[in-house]
Parts: sequence; C-alpha cells; structure tokens
Amino acid sequence: MQNSKLLITGGSGFIGSNFIRMLLTEKEGYEVYNLDKLTYAGNPENLQDLEADPRYHFIRGDISDETCVKDLFQQETFDGVINFAAESHVDRSIMSAAPFVITNVLGTQILLDAARATGVKRFLQVSTDEVYGSLGKDGYFTETSPLKPNSPYSASKTAADLLVRAAWKTHEYPTLITRCSNNYGPYQFPEKLIPLMIANALEDKPLPVYGDGKNIRDWLHVKDHCEALLCVYEKGKPGEIYNIGGNNEWQNIDIVREILLILGKPESLITYVKDRPGHDRRYAIDATKIKNELGWTPSYTFEKGLEETVHWYVNFRNWWERVRSGEYLNYYEKQYSSR
Ligand code: NAD
Ligand code: DAU
Repeated sequence: MQNSKLLITGGSGFIGSNFIRMLLTEKEGYEVYNLDKLTYAGNPENLQDLEADPRYHFIRGDISDETCVKDLFQQETFDGVINFAAESHVDRSIMSAAPFVITNVLGTQILLDAARATGVKRFLQVSTDEVYGSLGKDGYFTETSPLKPNSPYSASKTAADLLVRAAWKTHEYPTLITRCSNNYGPYQFPEKLIPLMIANALEDKPLPVYGDGKNIRDWLHVKDHCEALLCVYEKGKPGEIYNIGGNNEWQNIDIVREILLILGKPESLITYVKDRPGHDRRYAIDATKIKNELGWTPSYTFEKGLEETVHWYVNFRNWWERVRSGEYLNYYEKQYSSR
C-alpha cells in the first residue's frame, strides 16, 4: 500500500513512537499524523529526530474530545487510522479506573465515528491479549477464546474491541483488531516490568517483584509487534481479529534475574512485595492465524532483544531519568510505599 496518509493516535508513547519511526525510516510511501494528548506516558522526545521530516505531523489532542477529533478529520483526509492511544498500565487502572474508560472506550468510539463519517478506508485497533483474561498451566489464547478481562485496564480494552466489532457488524465499517502479548524494547515507560527493573538496578534500588514472581508473560520485541501491525494494516481482512505473539513465555522472576545478570548486579536487590490485586497468572498467545494467513513471523530472539534493551537503557539514562522525575515520582510513591 503506497502513498498512504495515516492517522496514528498515541504515537508519542512506547509502541506508537516505535511504529512511526519504523514507517518513516524503514518503509516507503507513508505520511503520518500523530494525534497524542501527551499524558505522563507520551513524550515528544521519543520522536525528536523526526520532527523536521515533512512526512511527519504532530497534533496535540485528546481522542475523547469529540470537537478536536471531528475538526482534525474535517481538515485532513486520512487513508487509515491506527489507534494506539490508551491508558495502558494495569496498576494505574487499579488505583483509578475512570481515565481508562474515558480514553480507551469513549475515545475509541469517537475515533470510529469520525473515521466512518469521513470515509476513512481502514481502522486498526491496537488491542491486547489481556482481553482474554488468565490461563492455567496449559493452553493458549486464540482469536476465538472467550473475553474474560480481569483488570479495569483490560475491561476497558475489551469494551473498545467490542465497539470496533460493532462498527464492522452494524455499519460494515472496515475495521481490524490486533491482540498482542507483552512488548519490550526502547522507549518503554519505566513503570512497566522490564524497564522498571533495569532502571532500579542501575540505581541500586530494590526490584519489587509481585507475589511469588511466578506469573508468566509472553514477551515480544516492540519492533516485531510493529512489523505485525503494518502487516495487518496492509494485508488483514476487514472484520478480522489477529493475535500477535512470539511464543516466548517467561516467569517474571526469571526475567528479573536475567536483567541482573546482564548488568552484573546482585540478586539481593530483588524484593518480593504484595501481589497485584486480580493478578493474571499466565498469558500465552497462539499466533498461528497471522503467521499462516498473512505471513508474519517475529525476528528477535528474547536473549538478543533483552540484551539490546538493557543496553539501550544504559545508553539512554538521561531519557529515563527525566521521565522518572515529576508526575511519575508521585505514582511510584503511592504504588510501592504500602506494599
Ligand atoms: P503508552 O502508555 O506507552 O502510550 C500511550 C500513548 O497514548 C501516550 O503517548 C499517551 O500520551 C497517549 N494517550 C493517552 N491518552 C490519550 C488520549 N486520550 N488521547 C490521545 N492520546 C492519548 O502505551 P503503549 O505501551 O505504547 O501501548 C500502546 C497501545 O498498545 C495501547 O493501546 C495498549 O493497550 C496496546 N498494547 C500494549 C502492549 C504492551 O505490552 N505495552 C501490548 C499489547 C497492546
Ligand atoms: O499483555 C499485554 C499487556 O502487557 C499490555 O496490554 C499492557 O498495556 C502492558 O502494560 C502489559 O501488562 P502487564 O500487566 O502484563 O505488564 P507489567 O509490565 O505491568 O507487568 C508484567 C508482569 O510483571 C506482571 O505479572 C506484573 C509483574 N510486575 C510488574 C511491575 C510493574 C512486578 O512483579 N513488579 C512490578 O513492579
């Protein structure tokens, strides 16, 4: 698909900024409009090197602000929308759920309405494996697994998925949904497991592991996720859902140990803390559909990806030190002081 004018929402966050960088530095024929509210998680620095690129446009705005969204769709004619914008952190949703409903649910509906009203030909909703809830020891999430979200975050993402589905079923509006497993890589906000543990270890601070540390996540490098998203955007069948994952299950505690090993820091930094309420035990994605139907496969091994990521945080210490000041300090205090 060439000469596409894309609206990317949430493009100043972790995955969105990696996606925009991939489009503008590795792919041909895309012009990008990045609509981002710049919450605590949105950082224009993530794309500073691309600011002068005439194919890149930034608009500060809120997807749940109907006037702002309608105005933008009146001003510009988009070929497609890829909706990354979200409140994305489970622990924050446990502290306060309403912002998750406003952005993740209402914001998605407002975007869908504006895109449909102006004839945008493709709408990709970036969703998550958390909509499926938690697995026991065996089995995998497929696209037809029941939706059983357990946190306010995952419930809000599920609600959004259902609204996207309804736009297809009711209006035949050409939507696509992707559900990816846990991402890691450069520019991830250091509230999430991997960057939090790297940053704390670099500062010789305790590494807070929830519960027994044996919860399992299925990790995928953000660049592999971005390639999968473009593949679905370009080749996916309207109305379809595609799971994305790298078949790479790890217990949290083993990842934390691995990070300490790479950094040459002692295991005595590990501190077991009170568990996350409603903590999902295991996620594991069956990505057969996207592999067989669209030909996507991940390219990173976890060993290579984790090592590169650790080195990125070592080399970009200024980035995460700045990000860890301000609003984040208040959150960190609330989240970890009572555990
Ligand atoms: P992030 O928190 O790093 O970034 C979210 C971005 O959205 C930020 O730039 C923020 O400023 C922006 N934003 C928030 N509310 C907004 C609003 N109302 N209007 C406009 N912009 C707003 O999140 P992420 O980890 O990059 O996740 C991106 C998307 O991918 C989310 O939809 C998330 O649910 C999904 N996802 C994430 C993962 C993961 O492991 N991180 C895995 C699967 C799916
Ligand atoms: O599965 C996809 C999801 O992955 C995305 O939809 C979410 O946006 C993203 O935040 C992520 O959710 P998780 O809750 O799995 O990620 P998080 O990094 O917060 O936690 C990963 C695991 O590590 C989880 O079992 C909780 C645990 N954990 C997390 C933190 C922040 C700890 O043990 N200690 C911590 O301090």
